[in-house]
Amino acid sequence: MIINSICCLGAGYVGGPTMAMIAAKCPKIQVTVCDFNQKRIDAWNSDNLPVYEPGLKEVVESARGKNLHFSTEIKSAIAAADLIFVCVGTPTKSYGIGAGRAADLRYIESAARLIAEVSHGNKIIVEKSTIPVKTATAIQTIIAANSSNGATFQVLSNPEFLAEGTAVADMQNPDRILIGGEQTSEGQAALEALVSVYANWVPREKIITTNLWSSELSKLVANAFLAQRISSINSISALCEATGADVDEVARAIGTDSRIGPKFLKASVGFGGSCFQKDILNLVYLCESFNLPEVAKYWRSVVTMNDWQKSRFVEKIVRTLFNTVSGKRIAILGFAFKKDTNDTRESAAINVCRDLLAENAHVVIYDPRVPKETICSDLLEVGVSQELIDSNVEVALDPYSAVKGAHALATLTEWDEFRNLDLPKIHSLMLKPAFVFDGRAILPIASLAQHGFDAFIIGKGE
Ligand code: NAD
Ligand code: UGA
Repeated sequence: MIINSICCLGAGYVGGPTMAMIAAKCPKIQVTVCDFNQKRIDAWNSDNLPVYEPGLKEVVESARGKNLHFSTEIKSAIAAADLIFVCVGTPTKSYGIGAGRAADLRYIESAARLIAEVSHGNKIIVEKSTIPVKTATAIQTIIAANSSNGATFQVLSNPEFLAEGTAVADMQNPDRILIGGEQTSEGQAALEALVSVYANWVPREKIITTNLWSSELSKLVANAFLAQRISSINSISALCEATGADVDEVARAIGTDSRIGPKFLKASVGFGGSCFQKDILNLVYLCESFNLPEVAKYWRSVVTMNDWQKSRFVEKIVRTLFNTVSGKRIAILGFAFKKDTNDTRESAAINVCRDLLAENAHVVIYDPRVPKETICSDLLEVGVSQELIDSNVEVALDPYSAVKGAHALATLTEWDEFRNLDLPKIHSLMLKPAFVFDGRAILPIASLAQHGFDAFIIGKGE
């Protein structure tokens, strides 16, 4: 099977960048990224891409208009494709059975129905969205029941492991590509066809092939293990603060053990992003569905610890500011869930700001990539009223105007520019005592003290 034409359903944080990379690396393959969302497609076709990722613009521009296309003409793109990536969202279900834990598969199902409706000939359908184990069966069943054009389908699982902020580098040089397929000759032929696409730039030994269920499950497990490390180090950050130990020193000491390794041991105000919490809850729900309550409880605790880390950070601010932040200006530096992205989904900053606003604080937010409309809609979504946003939320254009007249400053995203702030200037602009709450442990602790700040740094003893 030779792949000449690829269609991708979903032009989001995964669909757009991954397809741009495939197009750039495989000039002989026509790649069309489709979405219902006209605004998103227009943005992909403009100079102002809807996703900010270092290096992404260059990759998109190298192929767009040649073999990379962004379109809302979904049906014709599916009909023309040999291989269809499904990159639609799989958010946590907010209603009915499994609400708050299970994955909402309605976009996957509607994509499958659409593919069945318009397909002819042989198609390979690739699940790139993160989904519960056995979703491939659901896709196969829906397609088999709805296809009337004599088309044949093979479903593969090819989860995406890119991290936002480093997506281009992750795709260019991935740790591995994982592809699961059915253990039949047709399934293996489809799998080899997808392998040959990646083999244009990924060494063959990095392409792991498995059965469908191992591939689907490995994605959830990878995210669960990564998030578990963060919750583990965050739990230790609280102990460090209580005992006078330094969490970065502890992380370094344990991370040099090659069995533990140094990555994902940076204590923080809590992990965010659209996937860690969603995927762990999805895993929890799977365990419950398979009657494994102890396993479910074990993984649930990773999210519980993360929630506690965010709320204890707010509590620390309130207690330190003499038990009240009512009417006080709190400068918030960083709103994205991590640096080098404009994505704010599940960002710890949303909960921190919501809880400070509930205490009647006045928050002044600065983020180099997140616009005011995103900040306001995120706060509205977590229940902050429009009235409170209008009266108590300000968005600043730079860190110095954010801290002007502030009682406290909190760093919530580890943007590089926050590492080199002009601390004397900030101190002079703030009310005294000038309180700093560093939720990312990025500010220079010795300079903070030297310049007269009263600083709390996550995971560092008093
Ligand atoms: P997203 O919300 O940014 O994008 C999904 C897009 O799919 C939306 O633009 C939506 O309009 C579109 N869509 C929905 N139904 C469609 C249909 N039938 N046809 C065409 N378009 C349709 O989501 P995302 O962040 O790109 O995530 C997509 C999937 O990838 C999720 O399952 C997620 O868990 C997984 N994932 C995300 C990341 C990440 O870094 N964001 C990394 C790895 C895996
Ligand atoms: C994560 C995984 O790293 C990707 O492999 C996966 O593909 C993706 O989820 C997904 O499935 O969506 P992402 O959420 O983009 O990627 O970013 P991460 O770098 O994993 O960071 C997640 C959160 O953890 C951020 O809020 C980050 O600040 C926080 N974090 C990360 C820490 O607090 N400490 C760390 O040591 C590392």
